[in-house]
Amino acid sequence: MNNEKGMSNAIPTSWQIMETAQDVAISARDMIIKCARQSIQQRGSFNLVLAGGTTPHTIYSLLADEDCQWNKWQLYLGDERCLPADDKERNSQLVQQSWLNQIDIPTRNIHFIPAERGPIQAAKDYEKIVREALPFDMVLLGMGEDGHTASLFPGHQYTNGKYVYPVFKAPKPPPERVTLSAAALSNTQNLLILVSGKSKREAIHRWRKGENLPVSQIKAIGKKTVLLDKEAYL
Ligand code: 6PG
Repeated sequence: MNNEKGMSNAIPTSWQIMETAQDVAISARDMIIKCARQSIQQRGSFNLVLAGGTTPHTIYSLLADEDCQWNKWQLYLGDERCLPADDKERNSQLVQQSWLNQIDIPTRNIHFIPAERGPIQAAKDYEKIVREALPFDMVLLGMGEDGHTASLFPGHQYTNGKYVYPVFKAPKPPPERVTLSAAALSNTQNLLILVSGKSKREAIHRWRKGENLPVSQIKAIGKKTVLLDKEAYL
């Protein structure tokens, strides 16, 4: 059974509970590398959407030690904070520092959100880039304590059919952001959601009970996997 754009609801979400956050990172690294190899073998490239926040930091550091065909990787971001391009709190900066500065990947393969232009202009500019990239091969996402993902926050409406939205008054600073929509984040062969730590326990419980949280609205054309540690589950 497929919903709009072929997003399958038929494949159930795979919940994989790991002992530690490090185990989550190692499993995620292995799944990303495997997906990259398959995508490159099948299509000659690997379109990957990166998660922001701190959870994926270890994964990015692990990827920095890998020897991959980086020139076949096309990297995007699921969301970005509207800060100056070199601000250390930018998601792009976290990715650059922990991973991309350590590998030989062409600059033209890095498609970050120009959030320094402000939410409205950046969303407009990134819309075109996302439309050309779809469908993604893999989307990485984190989850906040309120069940937000990327910069899709509870109670915010994103309904004008775009793939990229400006965000104002975000409850997680900074208030102005840019985010891919649920539709864009769901237009992917593989979805990998990464959660670790006790602070996420309540949101995981609400999600598993069936509550309609932003993170639970993200589907996938193919496989949807949630990798979490015991701290976030028990
Ligand atoms: C951001 C992220 C956000 C993040 C979650 C989890 O800009 O902050 O895109 O959605 O993934 O808030 O953040 P942590 O991984 O830091 O807990």
